[in-house]
Amino acid sequence: MSNYYHPIEFSSNVVALAGRTKEKVSELAARYRVENSFEDWRKLVADPKVEVVDDCAPPFLHHDPSVAAAELGKHIVCEKPLARNAAEAKSMLDTAEKHHVKHMTAFNYRFVPAIAFAKKIIEDGRLGKIHYFRGSYLNTNDGFNRPTFPLTWHFQKETAGHGALGDLGSHAADLARFLVGEVDAVSGASTTFVGERSLKKGSIEKDKVDVDDLSVACLRFRNGALGSLEAGWTTSGVTDYLAFEVYGSEGSVKFNLERMTELQLSLPDDRNPDASGFRTVYVLGRDHEYMIPFWVNQAGGFSWEHTFVNELHHFARCIREDEDVEPRGATFYDGWRNCLILDAVVKSSETGKWISLPS
Ligand SMILES: NC(=O)c1ccc[n+]([C@@H]2O[C@H](COP(=O)([O-])OP(=O)(O)OC[C@H]3O[C@@H](n4cnc5c(N)ncnc54)[C@H](O)[C@@H]3O)[C@@H](O)[C@H]2O)c1
Repeated sequence: MSNYYHPIEFSSNVVALAGRTKEKVSELAARYRVENSFEDWRKLVADPKVEVVDDCAPPFLHHDPSVAAAELGKHIVCEKPLARNAAEAKSMLDTAEKHHVKHMTAFNYRFVPAIAFAKKIIEDGRLGKIHYFRGSYLNTNDGFNRPTFPLTWHFQKETAGHGALGDLGSHAADLARFLVGEVDAVSGASTTFVGERSLKKGSIEKDKVDVDDLSVACLRFRNGALGSLEAGWTTSGVTDYLAFEVYGSEGSVKFNLERMTELQLSLPDDRNPDASGFRTVYVLGRDHEYMIPFWVNQAGGFSWEHTFVNELHHFARCIREDEDVEPRGATFYDGWRNCLILDAVVKSSETGKWISLPS
């Protein structure tokens, strides 16, 4: 982390890694000079030198390690979606709160300078009353659009919980809550285009895909706004289309991750009656939150990997200074509310009804 940051505020050390394969995990540990490596995550969680656990495993391995870490009083950051379903996520939240550990769901896009700037514009009231949020995450994950792409943990409920909806849509749903507010009700439709996939690349043995390839939903926000949400990984041609548009009574803002240092703005204070429409602003430079510490600040671009540096820096600072992870970071509470939205999309798709979320 310190390599990226200037000036160096503080440093943290990775003291242990866990992975399934002895050779791979020990090779990685040697490469990064990490003291310990384990094939069983339980040993990592129990290692007395480990103070913070970063769970980067697939969703079926989020609940148990997080709960075990919290029970041992260790702080925990867990990848998104927080769990396979809202019930698992709630159990993780309850355990983390019971043991008073810091907890964060790794919604890294909250730490994109352009998204932080969009949030500031909204919070400052410059868009007026928010009426409509459009959020999409379409990405072919390097081949999921091809029926020949083999089965991975992503394609089954048992390992992933949800398909494109969990893998991609969870980010757009988090930005909906982050930028606009709490979601009260959901109506959705999900579908699967590739019903079975080869167990391995080229093999004739196949297994069933039982999660969505594409999901589309309508959202009702508590503050009266409406929203739409799209998640798809069979949408050929897109690279990393995490995009949102927020329309207010006075102004609007648009973002697309494929151009992550730009925002499109239509604000009442700079609108020219002769040239209506949106203008593009570059969210670069030291005036912007989450750009300040980077050496890329002056002329270079801010890129995807920097979001993780910002995210983990935020979490480390919250631990060191005993500050709150939210509202800038997403806690397990946000991860749980996020899972409620994902579950509701699927339930609505199955029942054909709007699903109200608990308050
Ligand atoms: N925030 C983001 O932008 C972002 C991007 C990619 C992935 N993710 C999330 O990260 C998580 C992992 O996704 P991925 O694409 O890296 O998956 P992956 O399959 O590439 O990697 C998962 C890792 O978990 C390890 N693992 C699997 N089973 C294990 C076990 N039993 N014990 C220990 N380790 C085990 C694998 O060896 C691998 O290193 C998912 O929840 C995913 O949604 C988030």
